Amino acid sequence: MTVAEKIGQLVQSDASYGYPPDYLGDAIRAGQLGAVLNTSNVAHVNELQRIAMEESRLSIPLLVGRDVIHGFATVAPIPLGQAATWNPHLVQAGARAAALEACCTGINWTFAPMIDITRDPRWGRIAESFGEDPLLASRLGVAMVRGFQTDDPMQPTAIAACAKHFAAYGATEGGRDYSATQVPENELRNVHLRPFQAAVDAGVLSLMTSFSDVDGVPATANAFLLRSILREEWQFAGLVVSDWQSVQQLQTHGLTASDAESAAEAITAGVDIEMAGTCYQTHLAELLTAGAIDPQRLDAAVANVLRVKCRLGLFDSARYRITDRTRGDVTAGDETAKALAQQSCVLLKHTAGVLPLSATAINTLGVLGPLADAPYQQLGTWIFDGDVERSVTPLESLRELAAGQFEVKYERALMHSRSKDTSQFEQALAVAQQSDAVLLFLGEESILSGEAHSRANIDLPGAQVELVAAVRAIGKPVVAVILAGRPLTLANVLEHVDAVLFCWHPGTFAGPAITELLFGAAVPSGKLPVTFPRVVGQIPIFYNHKNTGRPPSADTVAHIDSLDSRAPQTSLGMSAYYLDAGFEPQFPFGFGLSYATLRYHDLRLSQSELMPGDELQVSVRITNDSEYDCEEVAQLYIRDVAANVTRPVRELKDFSRVRVPAGQTVDVSLALHTDDLGFFGRHNRWMVEAGAFELWVGADSNATLGDRFTLQVPPDASTLSTDR
Ligand code: NOJ
Repeated sequence: MTVAEKIGQLVQSDASYGYPPDYLGDAIRAGQLGAVLNTSNVAHVNELQRIAMEESRLSIPLLVGRDVIHGFATVAPIPLGQAATWNPHLVQAGARAAALEACCTGINWTFAPMIDITRDPRWGRIAESFGEDPLLASRLGVAMVRGFQTDDPMQPTAIAACAKHFAAYGATEGGRDYSATQVPENELRNVHLRPFQAAVDAGVLSLMTSFSDVDGVPATANAFLLRSILREEWQFAGLVVSDWQSVQQLQTHGLTASDAESAAEAITAGVDIEMAGTCYQTHLAELLTAGAIDPQRLDAAVANVLRVKCRLGLFDSARYRITDRTRGDVTAGDETAKALAQQSCVLLKHTAGVLPLSATAINTLGVLGPLADAPYQQLGTWIFDGDVERSVTPLESLRELAAGQFEVKYERALMHSRSKDTSQFEQALAVAQQSDAVLLFLGEESILSGEAHSRANIDLPGAQVELVAAVRAIGKPVVAVILAGRPLTLANVLEHVDAVLFCWHPGTFAGPAITELLFGAAVPSGKLPVTFPRVVGQIPIFYNHKNTGRPPSADTVAHIDSLDSRAPQTSLGMSAYYLDAGFEPQFPFGFGLSYATLRYHDLRLSQSELMPGDELQVSVRITNDSEYDCEEVAQLYIRDVAANVTRPVRELKDFSRVRVPAGQTVDVSLALHTDDLGFFGRHNRWMVEAGAFELWVGADSNATLGDRFTLQVPPDASTLSTDR
């Protein structure tokens, strides 16, 4: 390969300006372009691939990238919603369905899964994440990788996955997108890097760097992340792509003084492909001639790219030529998308007897709110290829169910979620007055979350809270159905409604998924993948925090309203809480109600003392004391009582979604291998340490059914450290 041809493999250009004209053809013909993104026009992709294969000297096929994040034409729930299913099988099936639709357009590379751990619901990109827990994000990230790539990435419907954004993007300061992150190495390794290592171990073919500055060195120039950890420790053999123009942004960050310097920093640190920028294309050759970059590093980057192209089978003409393939059966993924939507809905509040609604007991159902009939808004943030015509809204499904049984009266009340115009309230309240029960469809439009869409106030926007209070005053049973891209602060809603079903942005099948839940054809089973704060000032608030030296408890907290103004400074419990918001969140991680009443009991451990290499079997029984068949996500948490570095008060270690039929008891088995007790200790050494552990099993991260066990290690060592 000539130097120009090598550099060409490291350039990815935006192909979104349409077809024809083909403005990329000349670069491809000259071997100066190895990848494109942002076209899903099959004729366009075919023509670009044809030029690459037939008119360029080396006949190297193109990588064709696209953000296929939560579905393609058929839209599945936003990833945060998918995380609320706690169902890796279904998440994998969702990624498979998306790949089946996407590959028919010639796309062979998706920029997903996004596995950034985040503890900040202000950050708009929390919508794209799997939430706050490293284990949940790891399992779901791996599931998506498998769904996209399959076991055999060569097969024509497989597309390369891309784990992003490496690394710590989710720790962005103040929840403002693109901000700096300050994460100590120990937390980086114990929290933020875990899902990435899991994705690498699962064979993910690519990683994308984060936009952010990571402790002074932006991720796109961060050799510690990209070389020491990713290549040397984890032996990653796939490719690393920058984020959109993040190479040239190194200068904006203040790390470099020119595009040339940015190119040198990025390639030297380990970025193989530059996305949508011109630094590599313009400067790598001169940098090489000047001896400013290592030719071996250039070759390694090219090898990484070509290796992925080989692994995808792109050199096989059947794989890149897709002229004879149609978009296929677009309904093939419908059941999966609907199941994901249904299992993602989390019942946050329920006053007994309100839900499920009964079609025979209702004469008139009031349906109010800006999101009852918003086919575009229900789809969520990443829907480049989403087919809004396929959306089925809750209003449509409710009307279909009601036909011949009861009347549905609908008033939008607010034009959109941000609207402060209350002029339609009167009609809405008249509908509430005439109804036996009211469904309020509230939340956020999709544009309020996602990239660059952070919020400092995460209450329901616009006049929605006023609408809730006004409807409450009518005195009918009120159910709030909330569609949103992030956790919201809901205190001012919860007090006014009888039930809350939190549905994220559910995608194409919001309508049937939600209607079946409201009317009892299905029972809510989603669980929160992220903590919900009471007020925004509590952020960051997350379940797996450290204990501190002065942990709060019900006995140590005082409330601002009951303070004696002459009370001595040390009279207030001296613990880690807020005078005006306490220490507890609104809803804990893992939380989600059901129509069924479940009891966890008979917790049993296979042994109370473990030796390295053992697997602890944890069994528990769940009894369903209700008449509703349901599914439940049983969760296993541990706490390392005393460790080489302080460990979280609780850590999720296993979970299982199980069916619990009405009136029956089921046995659930969970497992914990001694490797799962490992962590990065002082000096960031991986260690599995002897000692006592507490353990809990239950329905959320506040589970109280618990036990203890100990880990013994051979007499010659109190800790084991392993090369991972
Ligand atoms: C920028 C985003 O940060 C990234 O997640 C996405 O994949 C690229 N743009 C490409 O659209």
